Order: sequence, then C-alpha cells, then structure tokens
Amino acid sequence: MALADFPKDFLWGASTSAYQYEGAYNTDGKGLSVQDVATPPAGTADFKITSDGYHHYPEDISLYGEMGFKSYRFSIAWTRIYPNGAGEVNQAGLDYYQDVLDQLKAQHIEPVATLFHFDLPAALQKQGGWANRATIDAFVQYAKTVLNHFSPQITYYQTINEQNMLFAGMLAAALKGKMTLQEVAQANHNMFVAAAKVMIYAHEHHPEIKIGPAPNLVAVYPLTPRPEDALAANVYDSVRNLLFGDVTILGHYNHVAWHLFEQFHATPEIAADDMATIAAAHPDLLYFNYYNTETIRAAEPGSTLPFKKVINPFLDQTEFGWDLDPAGFRLTLRQLYDRYNLPMIITENGLGAHDTLTADGKVHDPYRIKYLNDHIYQMRLAIGEGIPVIGYHVWSAIDLVSTHEGFTKRYGFIYVDRGETNDSGTLKRYKKDSFDWYKDVIAHNGDDV
Ligand code: BG6
Repeated sequence: MALADFPKDFLWGASTSAYQYEGAYNTDGKGLSVQDVATPPAGTADFKITSDGYHHYPEDISLYGEMGFKSYRFSIAWTRIYPNGAGEVNQAGLDYYQDVLDQLKAQHIEPVATLFHFDLPAALQKQGGWANRATIDAFVQYAKTVLNHFSPQITYYQTINEQNMLFAGMLAAALKGKMTLQEVAQANHNMFVAAAKVMIYAHEHHPEIKIGPAPNLVAVYPLTPRPEDALAANVYDSVRNLLFGDVTILGHYNHVAWHLFEQFHATPEIAADDMATIAAAHPDLLYFNYYNTETIRAAEPGSTLPFKKVINPFLDQTEFGWDLDPAGFRLTLRQLYDRYNLPMIITENGLGAHDTLTADGKVHDPYRIKYLNDHIYQMRLAIGEGIPVIGYHVWSAIDLVSTHEGFTKRYGFIYVDRGETNDSGTLKRYKKDSFDWYKDVIAHNGDDV
C-alpha cells in the first residue's frame, strides 16, 4: 500500500519553552517564577541563563527559517507580562514577544503559543498557587491580555502545557507530605476551570483562534495479560491520560479517576458553575506531547497506589532510560482520535541525548535522526489511516535546559555552547547533523520519510 502524503499545509516545526530557553530571568521587569526560585538538582544548570534566547532570538529564528520551519511553538512567560502574576502589565514583556512575532513573520513561520509552561509566578505560588482559586482569575486576566494584545497575529494557542505532568509532580510532593492530596486534586481542578474560561473567552472575542490543552498523552500497556496488571494499567491510564482529555474535551471526570480520588478522600471542591464552564469550553484542537508509551503492572499488596510503572521488556531505551516506541505513537494517535474526535497537533516529540561538539564544530547525532524519522514514519501511517494530524513540533528547536538534567541532556537541532561546566560557555550556536536532515524532511513535505 502506498504511503499517504502529508497534508499540503502541514505545520512542520519545533518547540521551546520560555523558562528553558530564554534566560534573562530578571531582565526588563520580568518577575520571578517558581522555576527561578527553585533549587535545581545537584550538578545541573539552573534557569537563569539557559540558551540566553532572550538575547539570541533573532539569530535563532533565522536558523529556524533556514531549516524551513512552517511553525514554531514557544511559550509566553507569564512573569514577563505580569511580574507578580496579577496587577500591573509589564510593557517590555509584551514588546519582547511582539518582536519574536515580527521575526517569525519575516521568516514565514506560523507562531504556535503556549500560555503556561511550568512557570507559575512565584508571587502566586506564595499564596497557595493553583490550589488557590484566585490563581484562576490571575491566569484569565493574563491570558486575556495576551490574546487581546496579539490578535490576530497568533492563531494557534495552548492553554496549559502538560497539566498531567504538573499533577504527577504535585502527587509526588503530596506523597512526601509537602501538600495534601486534596490540595493536589483542587489545584488540578482549578487548572481545568482556568483553561476553560480562557477557551471560552477566546471563542467569544477572537473566533479565528484555535485553542486547546497540551497534555502529555501516551498509550499504556499492561506488563502481562494477567487481569491484575490489566486492571492496574486501566487505573493508571484513567488518571494519567484520560482524566485530562476527558475533563477538558468531554466535560466530565471519568469514573475510574474520580473513584480513585474518593478512595483517597481527595475529591476537589467543585463550585456551582465549574462543570458547566468546563463543558462549554470546546477546545478546537487537541495539542499533545508524546515521548514514549508506558507499561504498568499491579503494585504489591499494601502499596499506596494500585499501579507500578515498569520498563517495557520488548522495547529499547534511550541513554536516559526512556522507552523507545515509535509504533506506540501511532497507537496513541488512534486512541486519541477515537475518543476525542479532534484534529491534532503534536507539540513535542524528540530525543534527549548527550551530544558531543567535535573540534571542527560539528555535532553528529544519528540517534536523533533515527528517533525522529521513526516517529514521523508512524505519524504518516496514522495520517494514511485517516487520522487528522495537522502539525508536528520536535522538542526542541534548539538546545535548552532539560527539566531535570540541566544542559547535559540535549534535544535541539542547534547546539548551544554552554562550556565544559555547563554554567557559562560562549553560547555560540552550531548546526547539528539533524539540522540538515530536518531541513530536507520539510523541503519534501515528509515524502522521504
Ligand atoms: C516535557 C516538557 O515534559 O518534556 C518539557 O513539556 C521537557 O518542558 C520535555 O523539557 C523533556 O523532558 P526532560 O525532562 O528530558 O527535559
């Protein structure tokens, strides 16, 4: 059977996020986010300089133009727009993103913007963060400012990046006694309400905008056909994946996840209008991030949670221990389209690795080319099955600070010199082999994959 063609206007691009790419953490009026005040894991870079994108973006965007990007997915730092999360707008922050948009336009690159990518204003965190309903109002105010200011220049928006990973992070904090499980469920619920209010506002005031969530969604396998493992995988899938698509897109909590909340006496308080608001949001698109599938077995009796995540014995792993599963990407696309019936844009997919800059200024990264080629091939098969994928963004456009591994784990097409110790360096940019490879993929609209 012949392979399907990618759609003519397919959005080939790549991603960054503000706190991992921009640096300039306190420049031009920017306030501190939770990332700026966190202590990074020992031996890793913090988020103060990162790729220094704030001072290098014209050069970087022109390299994206050279690669032929059709789109670029980036996040807007809430603390550049509202340094304290709410209150006075910081004009310099708006001006910065306006210039980013101007540079993208000059390169004919479509902006794909994330409103919130892990960088809550520290001032709001001090008042309880997402568990405090006041954060809903602050987020809506911030989002309205951005939408109104940049319309109609930005069509594609995501509300919250990987709410499910934020939820997982809070759950881990609760299991260590740093917050209660009820606060976790409440913070999560408040994010649903905040995102829904922003989507409703966008549809009412800027009908050209295509807005939706950007969770990290993956197919889940039971480790064995033992019914206990299948039951555990079902609970895990319901609470890790389906909860986030279901509330945002279908407008209700799925039963399995809700029952788990009840078992832990951790159901959120739901205000009178919340579920009606959530149900009225109607995302235009499902944006999602995919790195690998996950495999689950039943936990030992007496464990706090009923499931346990394990390595899939049938898959290879990256050097950072992440399963490699391109076919699982197609499975995920099928499952998501069956359940949610929305067109999809991939907002992240990529390989984190230790890259080496050679003496002659090259980075040979065949492992990244293979990873991306295999995933794009599976996406092409899915499109051939009739699944409407309209864009694909590699994580990441350029090297940036990984969430937990500093600069040692790199994802980009462009190498950033951060020096031997990863806290200084020249910040000079070098094209990796994958740069030319992706340029070719885009030039042929994926025909050679
Ligand atoms: C996603 C995030 O979870 O995965 C990114 O949206 C992150 O912010 C990416 O960098 C890769 O994860 P990591 O931990 O390897 O940086």
